[in-house]
Amino acid sequence: MDGKMTGTYVFDAYGTLFDVHSAVARHAQLVSPQSARVSEIWRNKQLEYSWTLTLMGRYRPFWDLTEAALDFALAAVPGANAEAREALLDAYRTLSCYPEVPQVLKQLKEGGARTAIFSNGSPEMLDSAVSSSGIGDYLDKVISIHDLGKFKTHPESYRLVTDAFGITPKEVTFQSSNRWDIAGAAAFGFTCNWVNRTGQPDEYGDLSPTRILENLNGLP
Ligand code: LAC
Repeated sequence: MDGKMTGTYVFDAYGTLFDVHSAVARHAQLVSPQSARVSEIWRNKQLEYSWTLTLMGRYRPFWDLTEAALDFALAAVPGANAEAREALLDAYRTLSCYPEVPQVLKQLKEGGARTAIFSNGSPEMLDSAVSSSGIGDYLDKVISIHDLGKFKTHPESYRLVTDAFGITPKEVTFQSSNRWDIAGAAAFGFTCNWVNRTGQPDEYGDLSPTRILENLNGLP
């Protein structure tokens, strides 16, 4: 990264800054021989609940969905150890960030950019992950959908970001590893960078990112 970075850089939290699979990875032995399957179902169900609730016009905090999704995953995978539940939830509160994250955020701040997290996460879970990964000094804002009570990809959720900074959608440079989140953000008008960490095929047709990065080191 060289040159001066200005503008407003906004990051999705889970999967983009924080490695959602690091919780199960920390306790793989305890969880199940199929620990990766538990982690995948945990994440997929957490997201499914966020979408279905918002479509129903209902809301529960993302932390509650995280707990409910873990209970489902532990019940769904044969041989999964339900006694791992508390250890996994503790690990989720203190997820690891991806290795490049602190340096990239620091460089953005030093270059003069404004930085923020924008996430479905409940404020307490975001505060906990931000402090345990030591990136709080490099963030101007942590924006949660919690007070709105509508999850991404509801257009009103993305408006929280433009309202928080008093800027237009185009002026927001948004980073997410979640292709569905990029689709929602692009539909709202953000300038989007899809961080395709796992080499997924593209989807969502015309709701495309401006750029595709392998990780956040690819930000200019
Ligand atoms: C987030 C999840 C959905 O909003 O990745 O942080």
